Amino acid sequence: TVADLKGLKQGQLRLAVITTAKYFVPRLLGPFCQRYPGIDIALQVTNHSGILERLTDNLDDLYVMSQVPEHLDVVFQPFLDNPLVVLAPVNHPLAHEKNISLSRLAEEPFIMREPGSGTRKAVQQLFATHETTVKVKLELGSNEAIKQAIAGGLGLSVLSRHTLTPDGANSELKVLDVEHFPIHRNWYVVYPNGKQLSVVARTYLEYLLDAAKQFSTSSSSSSD
Ligand code: PGA
Repeated sequence: TVADLKGLKQGQLRLAVITTAKYFVPRLLGPFCQRYPGIDIALQVTNHSGILERLTDNLDDLYVMSQVPEHLDVVFQPFLDNPLVVLAPVNHPLAHEKNISLSRLAEEPFIMREPGSGTRKAVQQLFATHETTVKVKLELGSNEAIKQAIAGGLGLSVLSRHTLTPDGANSELKVLDVEHFPIHRNWYVVYPNGKQLSVVARTYLEYLLDAAKQFSTSSSSSSD
């Protein structure tokens, strides 16, 4: 509308996103802010349990997370896949093996996210289902620090593919071909059921869903 074009959408947008979405969501905010110069943004980046707390306290307009909370009454919509992959340094002996077994993986030192992390929970569930125990050498509360630790040879880990560069490439890290991986997950945009979204929040929600559609089309065509 004409009002949109004149930048008449005003106000604050409060977002809270899980750590892996911080590679995607801020990048999208650039074009959004250019389109709506009257909108200011507060963006919180935290792990799964941090998002749950903020959601319970109704602190933000919209939340991006990978596991929809079952015990809270929320509206949710999946908008992009979020595969969890096994990462090793490029020169690792397993780097070129095919269909590596979980038991072989368990022989390697493992780097695990902190308690409260959704990634950690998904990884622990997979190992538990297949009665595998990994040797956790290091526990780290940051995806970036884990990538550095992998590159530095401290161990292997499982992270969202979105923690790699936008096209999934990284010169120091290699995605291993391990059975039962990737773990298929989605990002969801979530808000409390019954919450009256502001015009600004609704505008952003539409923008996010649309941008994700374009992102998934372009990333699937480039990997063909
Ligand atoms: P995390 O979030 O930072 O809590 O691991 C990622 C996820 O839940 O997919």
